[in-house]
Amino acid sequence: MTFKLFSTLTAIFLCFQSGDSANSCQLNWGTNLLPAWFPLIWNDTSIVYPKYNGTEWLIEMTPKTSLQFGCGEATNLLQNFLLPETLLTCDGYGNLKAGLVSPNFTSMGCLNQVKEKVVHLPASTCYNGYDNIDITFLSATNSFPLINVCHNTAKDETIFAQHTIHGAALNPYEVSNRRPSFKEGGYYPTFTADDAYSQKSQLAVVTELTGPSRGPAYIDAARSFYFARGHLAPDGDFVHIYEQNATYYFVNVVPQWQIINNGNWKAMEMAIRDLATERQIDLKVWTGGLGTLTMQNENGTDVEIYLAKDALKNRRLPVPMISWKVIHNPVSKSAAAIFMVNNPHLVDVPQSLIKCPDICPQLPWVTWPTKTIQKGYTYCCDMKFVQTNGILPMISNLGADVLLLV
Ligand SMILES: *[C@@H]1O[C@H](CO)[C@@H](O)[C@H](O)[C@H]1NC(C)=O
Ligand SMILES: *[C@@H]1O[C@H](CO)[C@@H](O)[C@H](O)[C@H]1NC(C)=O
Ligand SMILES: *[C@@H]1O[C@H](CO)[C@@H](O)[C@H](O)[C@H]1NC(C)=O
Ligand SMILES: *[C@@H]1O[C@H](CO)[C@@H](O)[C@H](O)[C@H]1NC(C)=O
Ligand SMILES: *[C@@H]1O[C@H](CO)[C@@H](O)[C@H](O)[C@H]1NC(C)=O
Repeated sequence: MTFKLFSTLTAIFLCFQSGDSANSCQLNWGTNLLPAWFPLIWNDTSIVYPKYNGTEWLIEMTPKTSLQFGCGEATNLLQNFLLPETLLTCDGYGNLKAGLVSPNFTSMGCLNQVKEKVVHLPASTCYNGYDNIDITFLSATNSFPLINVCHNTAKDETIFAQHTIHGAALNPYEVSNRRPSFKEGGYYPTFTADDAYSQKSQLAVVTELTGPSRGPAYIDAARSFYFARGHLAPDGDFVHIYEQNATYYFVNVVPQWQIINNGNWKAMEMAIRDLATERQIDLKVWTGGLGTLTMQNENGTDVEIYLAKDALKNRRLPVPMISWKVIHNPVSKSAAAIFMVNNPHLVDVPQSLIKCPDICPQLPWVTWPTKTIQKGYTYCCDMKFVQTNGILPMISNLGADVLLLV
């Protein structure tokens, strides 16, 4: 294959002259995705991600196609264009054009970082009348939801969050270590979520619920026994730093014991990400909580654990009994559901918490120690079984017939 370098453009802008990719245009950002602030890039239907080929980030544009570059809001402009949005066309002769100019796309970053919006979708509900929320990126004409959240405002309880892992675009080792603080996004009207998640408040609340002889044994930060802000759609599942940052909302977390969050839950997140990146596939993922955690109080009674209460003393922000994930490959129509018992203090896992016959041994990517209670007791379900038995009624029928094996 021969190719010609256009010296008028950047040296990494290649034009293929033969084969199927004749006259296509290649956008190559090199080894990191960092023009000042990376823009949103989209086509007619969706966000287009650069492919990560192991060393470099590339978008291959077929001749006579266009991509829109933009910065999300009217006041955020593309550098060198000073416009909020610009159409970039691969002209049919291997040239990139924005209007009449051939731009240096590697410098087409935004003046400010791209910012998400939290949009409440009042015309639709996600399940049981609960609030349907998008954490999304808005252009002048489109909305590109990153995470869809189903949230019960009456209890300040998130039922699930849904997102997609773009395996071909993801460098699984590139996660920003500069974490923003969590935002309420207009929810949690009766208390401050940040306070409710503080270890001090957790100890006080759990002691009130279970008694002074139990509280300090249950909430023991030195042993990682406290409730973390357990990400539903995790930051590491996303490509761009502005997307990773957009996961930091209280509606996208549930209280999850830290020893589990940093134990089997983390191992599961990494295993799913590896599955998507190794196979270069898109995986649709739902993550949520089921039931309310009960702990034994000083009088031997099981009481439900909530992290907050409102002015009328109604309990709010329940801790889920079980955390779960459903992973779905729409192309191969395959799926699996993973359940993790959110209680490191159990001695035995009662049968009532086991919702299906365990098929973890059939899933080669489930490699963590599934039966360790302290790190998160795990079992796996066939999604067909889950859907026929109404175990996760908040998920509509995926039509997935096959187990997600590889
Ligand atoms: C294109 O922009 C990048 C980033 O600003 C810069 O490093 C590079 O030198 C530019 N290339 C040309 C040919 O101007
Ligand atoms: C837009 O991009 C998506 C994701 O890369 C792709 O699946 C789809 O075919 C593209 N649509 C058009 C009209 O090019
Ligand atoms: C990634 O793509 C670039 C540009 O086409 C190429 O030079 C590089 O060798 C590729 N890396 C791998 C690991 O394939
Ligand atoms: C992400 O959040 C960190 C921490 O607040 C901040 O320093 C960084 O600029 C943000 N990056 C983007 C692209 O939003
Ligand atoms: C346990 O029972 C005693 C006596 O009825 C009561 O005073 C106490 O509040 C109970 N403890 C809890 C945590 O409910």
